[in-house]
Amino acid sequence: MQIISLLLLSLLCLVDFSSADISAGVGICYGQLGNNLPTPSKSTQLIKKLKAKRVKLYDATPKILKALENTNIQVSIMVPNQLITNISTNQTLSDTWVSTNVVPFYPQTMIRYLLVGNEILSNPPNTTWFNLVPAMRKIRYSLEKYGLKKIKVGTPLAMDCLESSFPPSNGTFKSDVRDKVIKPLLHFLNETNSFFFLDVYTFFPWASEPINIALDYALLNPTNVTYKDPVTHLTYTNLLDQMLDAVFFAMERVGYPNMRLLIGETGWPNGGDIDQIGANIYNSASYNRNVIKKITAKPPLGTPARPGVNVPSFIFALYNENQKPGAGTERHFGLLYPNGTNVYEIDLSGNLPESEYKPLPKPRNNEAPKGVKLYCVAVKGANRTELAGALDYACGQGNETCNAIQPGKACYKPNSLEWHSSYAFTSYWAQFRSSGGTCYFNGLATQTTKDPSSRSCKFPSINF
Ligand SMILES: *[C@@H]1O[C@H](CO)[C@@H](O)[C@H](O)[C@H]1NC(C)=O
Ligand SMILES: *[C@@H]1O[C@H](CO)[C@@H](O)[C@H](O)[C@H]1NC(C)=O
Ligand SMILES: *[C@@H]1O[C@H](CO)[C@@H](O)[C@H](O)[C@H]1NC(C)=O
Ligand SMILES: *[C@@H]1O[C@H](CO)[C@@H](O)[C@H](O)[C@H]1NC(C)=O
Ligand SMILES: *[C@@H]1O[C@H](CO)[C@@H](O)[C@H](O)[C@H]1NC(C)=O
Ligand SMILES: *[C@@H]1O[C@H](CO)[C@@H](O)[C@H](O)[C@H]1NC(C)=O
Ligand SMILES: *[C@@H]1O[C@H](CO)[C@@H](O)[C@H](O)[C@H]1NC(C)=O
Ligand SMILES: *[C@@H]1O[C@H](CO)[C@@H](O)[C@H](O)[C@H]1NC(C)=O
Ligand SMILES: *[C@@H]1O[C@H](CO)[C@@H](O)[C@H](O)[C@H]1NC(C)=O
Repeated sequence: MQIISLLLLSLLCLVDFSSADISAGVGICYGQLGNNLPTPSKSTQLIKKLKAKRVKLYDATPKILKALENTNIQVSIMVPNQLITNISTNQTLSDTWVSTNVVPFYPQTMIRYLLVGNEILSNPPNTTWFNLVPAMRKIRYSLEKYGLKKIKVGTPLAMDCLESSFPPSNGTFKSDVRDKVIKPLLHFLNETNSFFFLDVYTFFPWASEPINIALDYALLNPTNVTYKDPVTHLTYTNLLDQMLDAVFFAMERVGYPNMRLLIGETGWPNGGDIDQIGANIYNSASYNRNVIKKITAKPPLGTPARPGVNVPSFIFALYNENQKPGAGTERHFGLLYPNGTNVYEIDLSGNLPESEYKPLPKPRNNEAPKGVKLYCVAVKGANRTELAGALDYACGQGNETCNAIQPGKACYKPNSLEWHSSYAFTSYWAQFRSSGGTCYFNGLATQTTKDPSSRSCKFPSINF
């Protein structure tokens, strides 16, 4: 009897172990900033088809949680940023949030992570920053109250929580948050056996320094390029390991050498604006497939500073999302088009051998365009009310941005909203591109190589 129950117990432990949330396997971020995306039930089928082990939501949409019932897919849900401040001082509000957004769906929906806010420290106001950990504690307390302690509470931060990430051994948290936010956060995460959730993209550092960083090194392609950290003498073979170790070293520096890391987002855009290099299907497929291979390797690879340590990961994102603001790449991170077809073949379980993938078109924008002039014009059919607003905004920025379209000036005619907007957008972009200004205007503007200038009116240009 005793032997049998012991056996049973160890069997149970085994079962529990294999389904534990630290096991390998890659998840997918299900962003919903599109006006053309499939329904939650269709999306659930697509997520299964991708063989995702987990899915991360940026809210707790009931229809999605319902669609994910009985699927064996682990789910991560999120408390929106706007609620953090109120929740941080109001246990009742926290209880209400958990009882409304978690309790009705648990355990049929395998909710495993509850994230409080999204990249809070990357956005003002800083008052929210200091409410973050108190809000996490309230949420954790509510989960305990409802018997849901198994759900890990975390908060995803971006790489900008570091003030130094190079060399990796110099990884250091920003001084304005180190003592008042990061240390209490790590204390909480350690005490609750949770993870440090990190959103990490090699694309951005590479795109801003393509001369100094080899593309293959950023894409995790096999390469002879290595970097040796002068302090630790650890050798790096890809940029992702370098960035992850910078965070490990930063955590170690404030006293948490054993904190577990979870990649809350990573990915590579499959497209973007004319002036954005390296954003194409070929690179996106290479990066994501390489990440999956790395993360699902058995035994786990870890990183040079944490060899053999499993780093559970989510790839960003399920869909190309046409309503994400910012540069064109922001709207091109999907593994799938909004119509549900794959942008390229991909298997999040890591079981499909590389040789099974069909060849992809070679990339053509890995280097900056040369001798090209760009302009920023109003999109055809743009909403006139919104266009008028954007025109006003652009003209209000910078120096003499809209002088040429004043009555009597060279670009006044034709006196149409589209023409004036195109001039204003181009003039704005010419002044602000170098300081991060984009040609987007909420989807009202687009880049073109075609010079809109007329005989009398010369548009400024952005030259490459
Ligand atoms: C936070 O609480 C204040 C005071 O109760 C309320 O006015 C406000 O609407 C709440 N904010 C949110 C985002 O719910
Ligand atoms: C706390 O939240 C509850 C539930 O939303 C609300 O009824 C109550 O007024 C809040 N308390 C304070 C002090 O804002
Ligand atoms: C918060 O930001 C304001 C400026 O926006 C700054 O004056 C203040 O010092 C910051 N507070 C802390 C605690 O960092
Ligand atoms: C290490 O980080 C600090 C800031 O935390 C920075 O001032 C210093 O320049 C960095 N060292 C190197 C070698 O980059
Ligand atoms: C982290 O948690 C463990 C287990 O509760 C504890 O032994 C350890 O002291 C904690 N580490 C820190 C730095 O607080
Ligand atoms: C790496 O170097 C070896 C020997 O120098 C060479 O044979 C190999 O082709 C190189 N691999 C790549 C990916 O450049
Ligand atoms: C889905 O959308 C993509 C991109 O717009 C397009 O290339 C593809 O043909 C579409 N597939 C179907 C089946 O409609
Ligand atoms: C144009 O945008 C305004 C403001 O967003 C909106 O109220 C209006 O319905 C839109 N018009 C059309 C035709 O879509
Ligand atoms: C506007 O002009 C001032 C003074 O000439 C200059 O300092 C500033 O950088 C200019 N701003 C832009 C956006 O060009």
